[in-house]
Amino acid sequence: MIGRSTLGAIRRRLGRARSSAISLVSPRGTIDTDLAPGHPLLPSLPAVRAYNAARSAEAGKAIRDGNRIVNFHIALDLVAKLPAGDYAELGTYRGMTASVIWPRMAAGSTLYCFDTFEGFDQRDLGDDRLAQPLEKSAFRDTSLDIVRARISNGNDAGLAFRVGFFPDTFVGLEHKRFRFVHIDMDLADPIRSALAMFWPRMVDGGIILVHDYRSKRYPMAAEAVDDFFAQRGIVAWPLNDRLGTAMIMRHPNMPD
Ligand SMILES: C[S@@+](CC[C@H](N)C(=O)[O-])C[C@H]1O[C@@H](n2cnc3c(N)ncnc32)[C@H](O)[C@@H]1O
Repeated sequence: MIGRSTLGAIRRRLGRARSSAISLVSPRGTIDTDLAPGHPLLPSLPAVRAYNAARSAEAGKAIRDGNRIVNFHIALDLVAKLPAGDYAELGTYRGMTASVIWPRMAAGSTLYCFDTFEGFDQRDLGDDRLAQPLEKSAFRDTSLDIVRARISNGNDAGLAFRVGFFPDTFVGLEHKRFRFVHIDMDLADPIRSALAMFWPRMVDGGIILVHDYRSKRYPMAAEAVDDFFAQRGIVAWPLNDRLGTAMIMRHPNMPD
């Protein structure tokens, strides 16, 4: 028979344990990643909180996408151990995800940030599944100063901006090799171009993340990824963030 005071003590202890277990819950509550005390990803939580707060402030509503940041950290920590390779982000906008990548890069490497920094280019907007007027004005409210301030406190060390229409802005980087590439350009044409340019230039063990893999608004993102990799007999791994991200790790003997 357990006495009342013992029961109370157990309840208090359970309550403390519960409140110290940190939950990264998707907006609709469908994915729940509990990080128990001592979990190696616990140090990622300040970045999760900062990301969620900044995204929410810019969106004017609560946005929680903690799994996205944890997935970034897992991938970035894996590729940091590789002997070589730079980093690239295709679709930097206001620098939110670039600010997650930059502080975790291997010493001496560079993050190439590709964007028009003026929103989508007319040449990519042919898909009639798009809500054209909305898409035309999307992602224009940015500047290199906003991005620099967010990523690196205004410091350009390890940063290179490729401003303009991708793939034109790839010129001059043909000799580079990459360990980590984040593709976040939403639309099919630039995603296809990015895969064609970067996949053959990934080092062994290098990782490509493609955002919007489960997006209802941009179903062409998943189509572009699946078409590209199906031709090579490769299956992209779907991650558990809010809009879905496809993860592909390059292994020796995979075809270009
Ligand atoms: C979803 S936003 C990127 C979001 C960003 N990663 C973040 O953390 O907030 C998509 C970006 O891709 C850029 N983009 C799309 N197509 C492009 C192209 N062909 N060339 C250059 N930038 C492009 C847009 O200008 C836009 O800023």
